[in-house]
Amino acid sequence: MNKKIQMSRKFKKCFYGLMTAIMLLAVPLPVFAFEDGAYTVSRTTSYANPETGETADGGTNIALGDSMSESIVEKEVLVEQSEGKTYVTLGIGLISNISNVKVQIQREDGTYSDAEITQTGSHETNGDTCNHYRFEVESTNKYISPILYVDPMGRDVQFFVKLNMETAQPGTGVFLSEMISTENQEEESEEENNSTSSPSEETKVQPEEVIEETEAQSEEVIEETETQPGISYMMIGIAAVVLIAAGIGAVLICKRRKK
Ligand code: HEM
Repeated sequence: MNKKIQMSRKFKKCFYGLMTAIMLLAVPLPVFAFEDGAYTVSRTTSYANPETGETADGGTNIALGDSMSESIVEKEVLVEQSEGKTYVTLGIGLISNISNVKVQIQREDGTYSDAEITQTGSHETNGDTCNHYRFEVESTNKYISPILYVDPMGRDVQFFVKLNMETAQPGTGVFLSEMISTENQEEESEEENNSTSSPSEETKVQPEEVIEETEAQSEEVIEETETQPGISYMMIGIAAVVLIAAGIGAVLICKRRKK
């Protein structure tokens, strides 16, 4: 009986040891490592600063602010990554009511600073204009905070956007990418229109300002985007090897203890 209890205690110890080793090794692994290219991601908006619970513009009607923030930011966001730099393109709608757009980005240390924004496109949606603004970010995991002057409110409103990077899909969606040529995007959107009846049928992108780029450069990036997956399979491979090694290690330790 005692032997049985001892055995079950040993088994429990081994099991907990193994689980702890696996959890410790698995948590810090950067599974979502993105290859250079263009991706569309979904986003989450919030009127109050999600880290402090306070509004940045002093407004007190958080429910109204939340619903306005949700409706004014385009549901899809473009993220472009190239040679260590990351650019985000955000769509801001209801433009007929807005006379000034600024964007602040959160830095790695948590502070906010003004981003240099470029308008890269514009399209009609929900009976109003939606402008696309592109800017560089330090990290896709930090908050983006647009500041818009809303004419009917007679003041600036500031709110917060978080990118849901786990939803990343290779491609440019309704956006104009400065990394991928317009020709390619037209083909892409034609393919989308043929295969589905998505909202892109209603929204037609009209370029306003596209930085000139040589075709050779664009083609290079397109090839990369098409052939390389969004998630680095090498990372997953390394993670699997580390986890298996941790498992074997734990089993060996348990066997030694038994002896
Ligand atoms: C992300 C964008 C927006 C946010 C966060 C926002 C937030 C708010 C908040 C919190 C209020 C309550 C009153 C106040 O705090 O001043 C408010 C009121 C109001 N908003 Fe906005 N709003 C946004 C965009 C817009 C737009 C695009 C319009 C135009 C159609 C608009 C029109 C109004 C009007 C007419 C009021 C009532 C003003 C008053 O109470 O005197 N808002 N908004």
